[in-house]
Amino acid sequence: MASVPNSDELIFFVNGRKVVEKNADPEVNLLYYLRKVHILIFYCTKYSCGSGGCGACTVMVSRYNPKTKEIRHSPVTACLVPICSLHGAAVTTVEGVGSISTRIHPVQERLAKCHGTQCGFCSPGMVMSIYTLLRNHPEPTLEQITKAIGGNLCRCTGYRPIVESGKTFCEETTVCELKGSGKCCMDQEERSFINRQEKICTKLYNEDEFQPLDPSQEPIFPPELIRMAEDPNKRRLTFQGERTTWIAPVTLNDLLELKASFPEAPLIMGNTAVGPSIKFKGEFHPVFISPLGLPELYFVDYTDDGVTIGAGYSLAQLSDALHLTVLEQPKEKTKTYRALLKHLRTLAGAQIRNMATLGGHVVSRPNFSDLNPILAAGNATINLISKEGERQIPLNSLFLERSPEASLKSEEIVLSVYIPHSTQWHFVSGLRLAQRQENAFAIVNAGMSVKFEDGTDTIKDLQMFYGSVGPTVVSASQTCKRLLGRPWDDHMLSDACRWVLDEIYIPPAAEDGMVEYRRTLIVSLLFKFYLRVRRGLNKMDPQKFPDIPENSMSALEDFPIKTPQGIQMFQCVDPYQSPQDPVGHPVMHQSAIKHATGEAVFSDDMPPFAQELFLAVTTSTRAHAKIISIDASEALALPGVVDVITAEDIPGANNHQGEILYAQNEVICVGQIVCTVAADTYAHAREAAEKVKITYEDIEPRIITIEQALEHNSFLSTEKKVEQGNVEQAFKYVDQILEGEAHVEGQEHFYMETQTILAIPKQEDKEMVLYLGTQFPSHVQEFVAAALNVPRNRIACHIKRVGGGFGGKVTKPALLGAITAVAANKTGRPIRFILERGDDMLITAGRHPLLGKYKIGFMNNGVIKAADVEYYINGGCTPDESESVMEYIVLKSDNAYHIPNFRCRGRPCKTNLPSNTAFRGYGFPEAAVVAEAYVTAVASRCDLSPEEVKEINMYKRISKTTYKQTFDPEPLRKCWKECLEKSSFSARKLAAEEFNKKNYWKKRGLAVIPMKFTVGFPVGYYSQAAALVHIYLDGSVLVTHGGCEMGQGLHTKIIQVASRELNIPQSYIHLSETSTVTVPNASFTAASMGTDINGKAVQNACQILMARLQPIIRKNPKGRWEDWITKAFTESISLSATGYFKGYQTHMDWEKEKGEPFAYYVYGAACSEVEVDCLTGAHKLLRTDIFVDAAFSINPAVDVGQIEGAFIQGMGLYTTEELKYSPEGVLYSRSPEDYKIPTVTEIPEEFYVTLVRSRNPIAIYSSKGLGETAMFLGSSVLFAIFDAVTAAREERGLTKIFNLKSPATPEFIRMTCVDQFTDMIPRDDPSTFTPWSVRVS
Ligand SMILES: Cc1cc2nc3c(=O)[nH]c(=O)nc-3n(C[C@H](O)[C@H](O)[C@H](O)COP(=O)(O)OP(=O)(O)OC[C@H]3O[C@@H](n4cnc5c(N)ncnc54)[C@H](O)[C@@H]3O)c2cc1C
Ligand code: FES
Ligand code: FES
Repeated sequence: MASVPNSDELIFFVNGRKVVEKNADPEVNLLYYLRKVHILIFYCTKYSCGSGGCGACTVMVSRYNPKTKEIRHSPVTACLVPICSLHGAAVTTVEGVGSISTRIHPVQERLAKCHGTQCGFCSPGMVMSIYTLLRNHPEPTLEQITKAIGGNLCRCTGYRPIVESGKTFCEETTVCELKGSGKCCMDQEERSFINRQEKICTKLYNEDEFQPLDPSQEPIFPPELIRMAEDPNKRRLTFQGERTTWIAPVTLNDLLELKASFPEAPLIMGNTAVGPSIKFKGEFHPVFISPLGLPELYFVDYTDDGVTIGAGYSLAQLSDALHLTVLEQPKEKTKTYRALLKHLRTLAGAQIRNMATLGGHVVSRPNFSDLNPILAAGNATINLISKEGERQIPLNSLFLERSPEASLKSEEIVLSVYIPHSTQWHFVSGLRLAQRQENAFAIVNAGMSVKFEDGTDTIKDLQMFYGSVGPTVVSASQTCKRLLGRPWDDHMLSDACRWVLDEIYIPPAAEDGMVEYRRTLIVSLLFKFYLRVRRGLNKMDPQKFPDIPENSMSALEDFPIKTPQGIQMFQCVDPYQSPQDPVGHPVMHQSAIKHATGEAVFSDDMPPFAQELFLAVTTSTRAHAKIISIDASEALALPGVVDVITAEDIPGANNHQGEILYAQNEVICVGQIVCTVAADTYAHAREAAEKVKITYEDIEPRIITIEQALEHNSFLSTEKKVEQGNVEQAFKYVDQILEGEAHVEGQEHFYMETQTILAIPKQEDKEMVLYLGTQFPSHVQEFVAAALNVPRNRIACHIKRVGGGFGGKVTKPALLGAITAVAANKTGRPIRFILERGDDMLITAGRHPLLGKYKIGFMNNGVIKAADVEYYINGGCTPDESESVMEYIVLKSDNAYHIPNFRCRGRPCKTNLPSNTAFRGYGFPEAAVVAEAYVTAVASRCDLSPEEVKEINMYKRISKTTYKQTFDPEPLRKCWKECLEKSSFSARKLAAEEFNKKNYWKKRGLAVIPMKFTVGFPVGYYSQAAALVHIYLDGSVLVTHGGCEMGQGLHTKIIQVASRELNIPQSYIHLSETSTVTVPNASFTAASMGTDINGKAVQNACQILMARLQPIIRKNPKGRWEDWITKAFTESISLSATGYFKGYQTHMDWEKEKGEPFAYYVYGAACSEVEVDCLTGAHKLLRTDIFVDAAFSINPAVDVGQIEGAFIQGMGLYTTEELKYSPEGVLYSRSPEDYKIPTVTEIPEEFYVTLVRSRNPIAIYSSKGLGETAMFLGSSVLFAIFDAVTAAREERGLTKIFNLKSPATPEFIRMTCVDQFTDMIPRDDPSTFTPWSVRVS
């Protein structure tokens, strides 16, 4: 960091080591400081979103309070912590918790051994969240574990094993408690459905191996920091940065002086509002004032009529203080506190709640605030102080609406907030609805209170505050005023609803969209409040105030957050198998411990190369336009900028196979890279990239949606079709015909490690070395070679590991790699190109949005005779893999159903969106739901259950697919049957129906989904693979193959294979990296084939080596491996071999519509049960049972992990993950704040996974590739939601059949459960406005 005069020394500790920073820059955050300033020491803390929303960067900050003499340990997101705020604090990073070279901490050990890591990118953050919890609560409750990781996203595991690792520290039982007998309900002898010959295991790890947690072993808080905190002569500190100054006062007076001198300077408390505004909105503040730790701001004062809480209290401390009050005070006094506590539980994650302060929250007044509406409704007041003195202002509507006369003056600060007790005839409630239960901004929230004349239900005072309905929290004050004196009855409610809708108007084109939904929520939440108050009145005087109807009770409460539990079942290893042979055992991921300690090196963890530059992108802001000019002069003049790179700088091909590196002459989507800037730091590169001026001239047409593409006949390839029977003829003889369509929106990969590329130009022979995260190194090599116009043998790509891929790192790294290589080539310097989360989401696109149209002919008994199905996908602006995705869709569209007359056609649409690409399941998850939709619709028409119609039409015997490939669906039948039986489907369905009869506002739904999934590629040579195995003279073995490790456990399984084949322990075998140097021309690691094909290649290499060793072994059969190797060497036997797998003999003839495109089939079934809240649209996943035909599992832990992770990812696709685009094609969803992948609170409360045994002689050890399969099974949640919504609609006299839409978001659920509230909201004529967002499917 550059030296600046007049700066104090910043002193803090990291992992017990003192850090004295003489040049602390206020603009530098802790994560950057750890990763980039102390590179090589603290790279283990990961960077993923930079906005506090993912938890990957979690560290523990400990502070000593000289007043209470207590040390408080808090989890924080390092990306939002300015280093200057750390003076006097002790930071513990994952390195400080434990490491391989010192001691592995029990948290790390258990996370690893419970299989809680896959790619490992989220693992250091997970460890820190659990570790911090244990520092505060060495024996936590189950609830505390779930709460602790609510702010940590994991895209791989599905959270279940992570929770399980945390549970091992709990006192409470961790076994299945369903029967309350201390015995698991799935225990072996109780299971009659599984062949008794096959012994079934349920333990994926052995807790006896765990080291105990010994809190006395934890590092002590540095005594020097205690002395510093207690120093009576503390003085004001100033840190002077490159552009900004940080001033930390030590007394309240000092703070007030400063605030008077710098009235515009923000007070930096948690920095969770200021930090993101600086980073994402470009706010700049020359001066920061940091009163953090000022004792006057940290207190709680309990009085007879209320609680006063210091403004410096974090939201976590606020929560603790309120909990205490609730415990101590009578219930009637604590209604406001309980309402606040409910929202505090789900507000952000634990990290943000520990950072954000009450003062910061109140003053920043976000329109989505979860606390301010309740504080206002509870008549809270704000205690202000300035040099002029103290005063109180009410926290009321004028304050929240930022009226200057009701606000604090610029020289004032908030000292504390006073929250009065509620009273007997006073009711206070907090209400909210978000896309996800926890860690998501509210779509609409509210704080409401009503006071009655004593002993009556006559309204004396009424307050209603709503968040997320406008630019500020707003009050429905007029409505409240008009209702004074009215009794709390249905007439009042009816008027209240009408008036509030008049008073709070959300315009049709309002930002954030969901206009009609938000209008509905305004009245739905009011209705919930109305019911809660009526119930409260009844409890106070049952004679006078009648209770609410029994069937409305379910409207009262929100879904509770429970700690998930579950069981995983798989075949035990044959007892006769050699104990050394690891195949079939639940072996821990080979990098798991390194994941948990953070020592697993990802590309950006590599140290800087000499002369290294950073790259930032300038992307198109227009969807389709001519580039008139690019002016980079201002950018080039900025400090640190070395070069601006455009299409002109590419020595070779800018357009390789239709994929464009840099836009030239025209842009074809928003987010297309127009140029890049190379600079000495990323901050400089970013700043300059924003200064590049591009002028455009729009070109028509601009095609954003599938509908527009169809209008313009805009396609990326010709139609793909398969057909069997005589569809037209069959339609003539069926009882009924049904037509409909289904829309499935796209999905963002949201791998935790964004795209990362390091390109190092060599001095000789135009060589270039790349280190990156990709699933397809040879593709990167190809694109880089083409861009640089050099032979491929000059380009070396190295992949150590990938922080999650899910298909998003198959093709895109080639483009980004070529862009980086061009920059490296031009500047002659190494380039580090790390996509910011927002850029990654914008540029790299994801799963294809899909439109399915169908016409189905069926008999009244549910037999489907004919189907004519058309698919369109939104491919975006370039070919990428859209044609091949469409081929998959067409080939797999029948899913598990035999329809004798079947026609399926499909075409990828060319639009002006970023080009969509491969995503786990490759078209199948989005296409197969269409089949489920029409089968469900047929059931409804025939008055049969969906399960009956599924069963009737399911493949039953050895059959031929539509493309004439023969297969045996026996495992499908087995999975289906076991799923129905084992999930007690029929009994639970009946119970749900009973529940639904009794509850009008909440409905339960169940669905069972069968699955026929195919593994392989229609192009046979894609599945070839090669490996290289070296045996060294000490007996150690180095295995290399063409597959990439991205968390799926490929390398772990390969080591198991090599161990079995060479008959040596796994510890002898090492797998270092994947590289184009060791294995050329390798196929992509995708399509669930990684272990299949690379395993075969490694097996082949090992068998070759063993054949060479055989004569030696035969001569000395009792010898040791090391002896044989030494002997072989002395006999000049080569100890290195390449292995090769030719690939599956697959092919497809599209002309003839027949072929053998897939190597084999994987079957499965899943049953899910949900409960939906018809008033808000929220849903809760109660239970899921999954049965997957795994054949023989090489590693059940890895396979179960893949199934659970894919299921949760699929559930995200079908429920919470919603990409929003403007009508002009701008992607709005670019961060974890506006794109919601599931968190731990979304996973099933009960989660059972069974690996069903079958045979698969074609694949290695008769295993099956399971990486993608369970993605589609996530749709059981979608159809369970549909089942619940159908029940609601039926009760309301509405049609049972409605078009499928995915994701089934709260908005969809609420607006489909039509009722008096949806009927009363104002509707807008779509022709009169341009909506904020459009559907692109
Ligand atoms: C990832 C993430 C998720 C979130 N989720 C939610 C959510 O679900 N629900 C929700 O309601 N909120 C949510 N928030 C917002 C969060 O609650 C606020 O950002 C936070 O409360 C602000 O507090 P702070 O201490 O961090 O403020 P800071 O960022 O430090 O300061 C904010 C502003 O307040 C002023 N200020 C601070 N203290 C005082 C004081 N004592 N006197 C005068 N002025 C002061 C500062 O000058 C500054 O202008 C989320 C934030 C993040 C980053
Ligand atoms: S990187 Fe800090 S929370 Fe995501
Ligand atoms: S293991 Fe959690 S994101 Fe990969």
